[in-house]
Amino acid sequence: MANIISADRRGIACAADVLRKGGLVAFPTETVYGLGADATNDNAVAGIFEAKGRPRFNPLIVHVLDFDAAAKLAELAPAAVQLAERFWPGPLTLVVPRKLNCPLSLLASAGLDTIALRVPAHPVARALLASSELAIASPSANRSGHVSPTTAHHVADDFGARVDFILDGGRTAHGIESTVVGFAGDSAVLLRPGAVVREDIEEIAGALGAFGPDRVSSPGQLASHYAPQTPLRLNADAVLPGEVLLAFGPRVSDTEGIVRNLSRSGDLKEAAANLFAMLRELDVSGAQCIAVMPIPDHGLGEAINDRLRRAATPVTAA
Ligand code: TXA
Ligand code: MG
Repeated sequence: MANIISADRRGIACAADVLRKGGLVAFPTETVYGLGADATNDNAVAGIFEAKGRPRFNPLIVHVLDFDAAAKLAELAPAAVQLAERFWPGPLTLVVPRKLNCPLSLLASAGLDTIALRVPAHPVARALLASSELAIASPSANRSGHVSPTTAHHVADDFGARVDFILDGGRTAHGIESTVVGFAGDSAVLLRPGAVVREDIEEIAGALGAFGPDRVSSPGQLASHYAPQTPLRLNADAVLPGEVLLAFGPRVSDTEGIVRNLSRSGDLKEAAANLFAMLRELDVSGAQCIAVMPIPDHGLGEAINDRLRRAATPVTAA
């Protein structure tokens, strides 16, 4: 059974400790409960995807204590600053460019150059951020395909012992998720409607551009998938001339040229944690092609293979 603990000082201190050690903690925000992990820890972030059972890597929202913490992690253009000043702390998420050398896990960004940031208003979320002194990556605390949880018991029903702790802060106020806003040049774009309504955002940011899953995104800015420049060759069992290798498992020697091994021990969680950073390293190696060894298609392997297939398919305008 999941470990539901009350969100008093002791509970929060315990939960902060679990987070710092790379564990998973579910906690209330003013919108819905989130499933949190240390956002700088690739392995802990991989644990979120494993627990959620998502068949693909969607980028996650990173929660921070205040504006200054956000400004250390990402480039906040004037349009983003205005929205942050008006709506933080609160249920607004801003998708903004990661700073160079941003310490946040690339897996939290699903490999993208942007990161979704939010400063929550819920006192328990804030106490956890303050006590842990972490940035906390956290999607809604539901299993893939289930609705977002608004009580600690919803979270327990979905995850059981898959999370280390569930901090019980009662029923969440909004019951729907935060509004997600991105930026195309200077203008704000509504990526997901949510608890802050469009009219209130437009009062600050002017008319919002639309962005739906079927639309072509404006170049670069809002692309929803990381795509390497170098072609990928999947299910490779040998490295051809001009290729570098993305390996998986113990078989590979270092004599095959440039190799990154997602996990020598064949651990899918470790592979997920390494995936985007290693793809990027191989992408800038100057090779003609990245050969990718087969990856088992169970557990996190499903999301890894989904992402590799997308990376292997050139992006075409819809
Ligand atoms: O209210 C909420 O937002 C809750 C609480 C826990 O904060 N969190 C939440 O997270 O709903 P999640 O992971 O279920 O939804 C995150 C949304 C997704 O629609 C995702 O595609 C979008 O934010 N998103 C995150 N990072 C993005 C990025 N770099 N680019 C575009 N969209 C992004
Ligand atoms: Mg969700």
